Amino acid sequence: MPTFPISRGRRIRNSNWIRTLTTENYLTTDDLVLPIFLKESGSSDFISKMPGIERHSLKTIEKEIENIMNLGIKAIAIFPQIDKSLKKEKASEAINPNNLICRTIKLVRKKFPELGLICDIALDPYTKSGHDGILGNNGLVENDKTIKILSKMSLNFAEAGCQMIAPSDMMDGNIKEIRNTLEKNKFTDVCILSYSAKFCSFFYGPFREAIGNKTNKKYISKETYQLNPNNGVEAIKNVEQHIEEGADIIMVKPANYYLDIVREIKNKCSIPVSVFQVSGEYSMLKIAAEKNILNYEKTVIESLNCIKRSGANIIFSYFSKEVAEWLR
Ligand code: PBG
Repeated sequence: MPTFPISRGRRIRNSNWIRTLTTENYLTTDDLVLPIFLKESGSSDFISKMPGIERHSLKTIEKEIENIMNLGIKAIAIFPQIDKSLKKEKASEAINPNNLICRTIKLVRKKFPELGLICDIALDPYTKSGHDGILGNNGLVENDKTIKILSKMSLNFAEAGCQMIAPSDMMDGNIKEIRNTLEKNKFTDVCILSYSAKFCSFFYGPFREAIGNKTNKKYISKETYQLNPNNGVEAIKNVEQHIEEGADIIMVKPANYYLDIVREIKNKCSIPVSVFQVSGEYSMLKIAAEKNILNYEKTVIESLNCIKRSGANIIFSYFSKEVAEWLR
C-alpha cells in the first residue's frame, strides 16, 4: 500500500464528478420492499408508535397499492392485525383458509398481478400470548407442533396465490417442514424467504403494538427461539442449515445494527440476502427528525446506503414510499 504523499485519499473526494465516478454502491427503488399492516375492516388508522404508518383494510388497500406501484415499488410484505376475539391459544385463525391474509392475497393477485407479495409465516398475530408458536405446559413454545401449523399456514397462502412466503418464527426445522409440504402439494415454485438470522431485539417494540400484541404486562420475551444479539457464529449456523433445508433467500433482522452478519453471509453463502429495517429503527429516525434533531431525508438515505454497502440485495423498510419519492 502506498503511503502519503504518494497516496492522497482526498484526490478522489475533491470534486463532485470524481466522487460520483468512484461511488461504490447505489440505492434504487428496485431494492425496496414496503411492509404493510392490515386490519379486518373499516377505514385506515395510524399506529401511534410509528408516526406516519397506517393500517389498511381490504377497503382502503387498493388505493394504497395503486400509489405504491406508481412510485415504482415492486413488492410489499403484509402483516395482519386480526380482531382480538380471533386470537386463540392454539392460533386457529392462522390456518383458516379465509383469514385476512388469504383474502388479501386473492384480492392482490386478481387486481395487481404484477405486484410482488410476501407473506410472513409466524403465529404471533394469531396467538393470545403474542408468541410466534403455541405454548406447551412448561410455558415454552412447542417446536414440533408449531412447525406443523406453520406448514399448513404456508400451504393455505400458496393455494390463495402467494408466490413468496417468509417464515419469521425461528422454530427448528421450520424450513424443512414447509418445503416438504409445498413440494408434496406441487407448489414447487413458491419461494421461501427465511428469517434465518432473526435476533431477539427490543427494536421490534412498535411492531408489536401494530399487530395488536401490546400488553400492559412485561415485554414478551422471545429469547428461547430468537437469536442472542451477542452471537454471530450461531446466526451463520442457522443460515447454513436453512439453505440446506430449502430456503431461497435469507433474511437478517434487524438491519442497521446487524450488518456484520449480512457481510459474513454474503462472503460465505451463495444466496441473496434481504434485511429488515424494523419498526424501532424506523421510529427512532422518524421521531428524531420530527424534533428537528436529525435531517430526515439525509439520515434515512444514509441508513439505507449503509445496508447496500454491507452486501444486502433486498431491503424491507417502512421508509420505502418516501424513499421512492426522493429517488424519482
Ligand atoms: C413476527 C415478526 C416480528 C417482526 C416481523 N415479523 C416481531 C417479532 O418477532 O416479535 C418485527 C418487524 C418490525 O419490528 O418491524 N414474527
